[in-house]
Amino acid sequence: MSVTLVFPVSTPDGRAYLKQARERGERVVGASCDTSDPTDGAAPWVRLPLVHEPEFLAAFLDLVQAHGVTQIHAAAHMVHAALGDMLREHDLTQLRIINRSALETEFARWEDIFARAEHWRRLIAALAPAQTPPEPAFLAGVIRLSFDLFGESYDDKLAALLACLLDAPEGDIVEIGSLFGRSASVLLSGRALGGAERRLFVFDPWSTEAGAQKDLPPIMQNYTRAAGLERVALAFEATFAALAPQGAMTAYRTPSVAGHAIYQGSADGEAVRLLKTRPPLKPAGRIALLHIDGNHDAPCAAEDVELWSPLVPPGGWVAIDDYCWRYGDGPKRAGDALLERWGDGVARAFVAGDCLFIQRTAAAAF
Ligand SMILES: C[S@@+](CC[C@H](N)C(=O)[O-])C[C@H]1O[C@@H](n2cnc3c(N)ncnc32)[C@H](O)[C@@H]1O
Repeated sequence: MSVTLVFPVSTPDGRAYLKQARERGERVVGASCDTSDPTDGAAPWVRLPLVHEPEFLAAFLDLVQAHGVTQIHAAAHMVHAALGDMLREHDLTQLRIINRSALETEFARWEDIFARAEHWRRLIAALAPAQTPPEPAFLAGVIRLSFDLFGESYDDKLAALLACLLDAPEGDIVEIGSLFGRSASVLLSGRALGGAERRLFVFDPWSTEAGAQKDLPPIMQNYTRAAGLERVALAFEATFAALAPQGAMTAYRTPSVAGHAIYQGSADGEAVRLLKTRPPLKPAGRIALLHIDGNHDAPCAAEDVELWSPLVPPGGWVAIDDYCWRYGDGPKRAGDALLERWGDGVARAFVAGDCLFIQRTAAAAF
């Protein structure tokens, strides 16, 4: 059986690898230059000198022999580089480093992000041909940030949301259904595209019961229930407490119907408002971009569209997520009903990443 040396085990990466390897039932030994075991006895631990110290090699070889080490997880970049050289120089072919170096991994991640940013730029240029697309550095930053958040929105839809903002009038951005905030972070970053001053309003109950989707197969409803959406609200609030500039966004922990009353000013939302240390924001009453990504059950999707779409002014956009949903046709029916209701008042409509985007014609009556 293989034995993995996790070195250094004192870094967050090293500790995480040790924990996961133990959970997989693998044999591991930790090492670091600390004076005591930083893992508090989670696994056998050996103190090693720093890699550049003259006594390192002998101590390392002793450790390998004593614990029967066959492979190494080198969590720190410098250790990875130094150990790689040492294994080659001393022909220690029985040992191998099993991970890429932290820096290499990070460079590879950014390479992927910049390639995706180029895809976003091309897609945005195609969807908003009259506008100059955002620069690649901005798009790469948006991708990096949003994909650090767990989410259920992906590249094409998120890029299309930015394309809409480039070509939208003044007004608020409203998101119904945010989960951890992936799409909300994109909307926040892109709120001023097209030269407008916009603020983001988010409505989500973050509640397993309030958010239960009965159109889902029962087994999937059970998984969602077990996940416990309640904890997600804490993560969402923490993310945007750090991310959102003052006066840029507000969020209410409530279903969209109650949120609509709060947005319209007919209900007091203070009890369910997140980011409470900041003053509440006054809604503009006009929604430049409405992103509907809440409960996909047919009655809920229809209600969201009926309630909120009249607040979208000429030139504004409605985005209905999961228009092509594999578990039901609620979002599709709601989207088709809006296309029919607006009729000649639809300037453009397209689907990107399973999301239906509808722009109201600038000439339509509001
Ligand atoms: C598919 S997730 C949203 C994904 C998110 N937009 C993203 O980019 O990752 C659906 C979210 O809708 C929320 N939700 C469920 N019912 C809702 C309702 N009636 N009003 C508003 N949000 C609701 C859920 O709590 C959940 O966070």
